[in-house]
This record gives sequence, structure tokens and C-alpha cells, in this order.
Amino acid sequence: MKSPADRISPLLDHCPATLPPEAYWHPDWAEREQRGIWARHWIYVGRRDSFLPGTMRRVQIAGDSLIVVCAADGGLSAFHNTCRHRGSVLCVEHQQAFDGRVIRCPYHAWAYATDGRLVSTAFATPTPDFDKSDHGLFPVAMEIWNGFVFLSLADEPPVFEPDLGKEALDNWPMDALVVGHTFEKELACNWKMFWENYNECLHCPGVHPMLSDRIPVYKRGIMTRQESADWTPGEEASPVLKEGTSTWTMNGQPCGPEFAGLSAQERRIAHTFVTSYPSMFVVAHIDYVRTVELQPLDPERVLLRAQWLFLPETLSQPDFDLRNVTDFATTVLMEDGAACELNQRGVKSSRYAGGRLMPQEFDVHGFQAWVLEQVGD
Ligand code: FES
Ligand SMILES: [Fe+2]
Repeated sequence: MKSPADRISPLLDHCPATLPPEAYWHPDWAEREQRGIWARHWIYVGRRDSFLPGTMRRVQIAGDSLIVVCAADGGLSAFHNTCRHRGSVLCVEHQQAFDGRVIRCPYHAWAYATDGRLVSTAFATPTPDFDKSDHGLFPVAMEIWNGFVFLSLADEPPVFEPDLGKEALDNWPMDALVVGHTFEKELACNWKMFWENYNECLHCPGVHPMLSDRIPVYKRGIMTRQESADWTPGEEASPVLKEGTSTWTMNGQPCGPEFAGLSAQERRIAHTFVTSYPSMFVVAHIDYVRTVELQPLDPERVLLRAQWLFLPETLSQPDFDLRNVTDFATTVLMEDGAACELNQRGVKSSRYAGGRLMPQEFDVHGFQAWVLEQVGD
């Protein structure tokens, strides 16, 4: 039987095999992942307030074109981007305006209400065997959590549940936050490379000098004190960030008023990571919140988008220095992206047949086990 300390330590007690190399480039793998993961789970498509009344926006999930429709009254709905007449797309541009009431097909002008009901067949006069009520748009399931909009292509979507639970950000004023900055970069790697890198800190000392200086435990290649051999259950929690700093900004100081409702523990941790596989994670700091989202473009390319969310009063401070905030995590993301691209190139070697995970890579192991479970053997 394991000792209590072992039970609490997250370290693996063996060195499991990684995913096979073809998981990172083979079209068959990508196809299985599209069906088993991207077409089944909740996929992040943007902040609620980025969908403006009277617009519809096209989004791509698992190879399918969808539309998110924002009605004149602000109500959101999502559908497959296909007309029930002869299948034309409905939304042509990435984002386009409409009257906020009726979605009109650009081909023969059939019209749909914003709840998807077919309301007009325009110039066509159907015979009685055609029932309008059977020809509404195909709906797509939607979930809004803390102002983040997610869609699922599944007929019966799983319960939406980020890793720390739906309440994880309850102490942050999430609905009040607005986007102050967006960073986008296409990475030449499989989307899983990014998550695997996200899930370990063995690379931190070498890849992230600035971040490891800010978070001293990272200098040891671990993510938390708990992973350390000299950690004891019940030991007094120490601050996570370097003395004299309290957040992820270049100068280490909060960029505006600190969020009022955070617990002492949340302040001490200074970066609460909340993850929703496969498409996004949130990092909540004491003064701002950051999101990172992934969109696979093909088996060896992924689009990375990060957004910085602030209280409006933070952004409107006369001396607000946006770069002081965004340069920090942008540096880290670029370092991570470069590491992922190195990894992608190497797994294509004819001699690489899969590797082994180290005990500290327990979260990578968890992610890989999750992927295998979703795609089947
Ligand atoms: S395909 Fe849409 S109205 Fe004909
Ligand atoms: Fe990293």
C-alpha cells in the first residue's frame, strides 16, 4: 500500500510510453480525432460580447461550417451553415450583417427566423407534401460559461465541465471583463503538441528563463511544490511568485485594481489555470484574465489565439501600459510555440518510434490517455 505522502504526490510511479509518432501527422489519426474529439466535445468559439446584434459569424469545427447568429435582441443561436432547400451556405463572409430577424439564403432567398424556423420559401410555392416545420436549420448545441461561448456538434453533447469545475472562476468578475488585446499565431505542429507542452514544466528551466525567474519552482522543472521530493503534506503554503511580484506582467505589478472577490489562496497562487479540452484554457490572475484557444488547421498546423481580458476601469486608466501586461505571456507563448515546432519536426524522424514519459509528466500522461479514450484503439 502507498504511504499517504505518495498518495498525495501526483508523480507517476512508472515511465509510460508516449503516443505513437503517427498521432502527430497521419491523416487517419486526424480524422479519428475530428470525429472522436472535435466533433463531440465543447469547442470554444469566442467571447459572448464579440457577437454583435444583427450579425452572423461563420466558425469551423471538425471540418464543418457553422454559423453563430446574434439576433437583433442579442439572443445567440448556432446552426449548420447549410440551407434546407438545396444546401447552399447561408453565411458567405467570415462575419456578415443581417437585419437581426431573418436569415436569408443567398441562393433562392429562403428565409429562416433566428431560432432556425423556415419562415419563407420566397419565389417557390411548395405542394402540400412539403411541410415547412420539417425544414428548419440544423441546430448546434451551445453553452455559455463565464462569457465564453462553446459549441458542440454532438447530438447528445457531454455535460460541459472544465477541469476545475464550472465554479472555478466564480470569484472573478468574468462577465464584466472585456478583451483588451488579441495575439494570433499559426504554429507548425499538431494541436496535441501544444497541450502536451502545456501539461509539463520539465521544459521550463531551459525554454522559459523569464517565467522561471518569476515562478521559482519552475526553475526545478516542476509545476508546484507538491511535486518536489522534499514536500510534506500539510506544509505551510508559500507564495508562488517571486518576492515583490504578484502577477504575470513585465514589472510584476498589477496592471490595475485587483479583483476584489479573490480568496487568499487564489491570490497566493497568482495564476489559476482552468482547462477545457480540446480547445481552450483560461489563466486567471489577480488583476486580469487570459485565454488561449487552439484550432487545428491540418494534422501539422494549429492556430493559436490568446486574448487578454480586463475590467473596463483597468483599460481606461490614463497611465495604463498594455505592453507591460501582454509582453509577458506573449514571450512565454512564443517560447512554447517554438518548442512545439521543434518537437513536431523531430517526431517525423524515421528512427523515432515513440518515447517515454517521465514521472513529472503526469498531466501529459493524463492528456494522452484522454486522447486514446476518445479516439478508441
Ligand atoms: S439553396 Fe437556399 S434557397 Fe435554394
Ligand atoms: Fe511552457
